[in-house]
Amino acid sequence: MSETILQLGRSQFGKPENAGNLMTLEDAHALLNEWVPNERLRLHMKQVAAVMKAWAIEKENADEHTALKWELAGLLHDADWEKYPNDHCRVIIEKLEEMNIDPEVIHCIASHGPKYFGVQPETKMDKMIYVFDELSGFIHAAALIRPTRYEGMDVKSVLKKLKTLSFAAQVNRDDITDALSRTNYSLEEIVDFIIAHQKDVQ
Ligand SMILES: [Fe+2]
Repeated sequence: MSETILQLGRSQFGKPENAGNLMTLEDAHALLNEWVPNERLRLHMKQVAAVMKAWAIEKENADEHTALKWELAGLLHDADWEKYPNDHCRVIIEKLEEMNIDPEVIHCIASHGPKYFGVQPETKMDKMIYVFDELSGFIHAAALIRPTRYEGMDVKSVLKKLKTLSFAAQVNRDDITDALSRTNYSLEEIVDFIIAHQKDVQ
């Protein structure tokens, strides 16, 4: 969900001395509830957060603090999208800078749409949010048209729908290809991981 074109015009975010400063999940959810009245959009962020957290723990051997970092980036990456569509990304970045949040979290959010925000994903966390963002939304759209939703959903059917450009046409397939090319993972692997980890998010 990064349709807005807004070049941020900078590549440094937050302050190095704030490394390690996070917020509680409770505070992040409170911010989300206040900034994002749209339940569907809130769900999107919760899904990306769940997938990010699971990836950090299962694939990156992250400790609790690092996993929270990945989760917070996912949870807040579109927090300003509903209220500030023309300033999407800038507003949440400035808010997190004001709150002295860890620069890695802020950079991750700033780089989740390189074409739109002009910030390149650098860390593993940056690259994974970019990979997960569009695909997570796409998979949810695919689940919504199935009578059993996520139940019995398989990777093959998602790949087939991705090739059907008229389905969820707003999901930019080039962004997905670009994001994947910056990792060593296959589309199949990522789709499988997303289905498994966002299916129960409410
Ligand atoms: Fe998103």
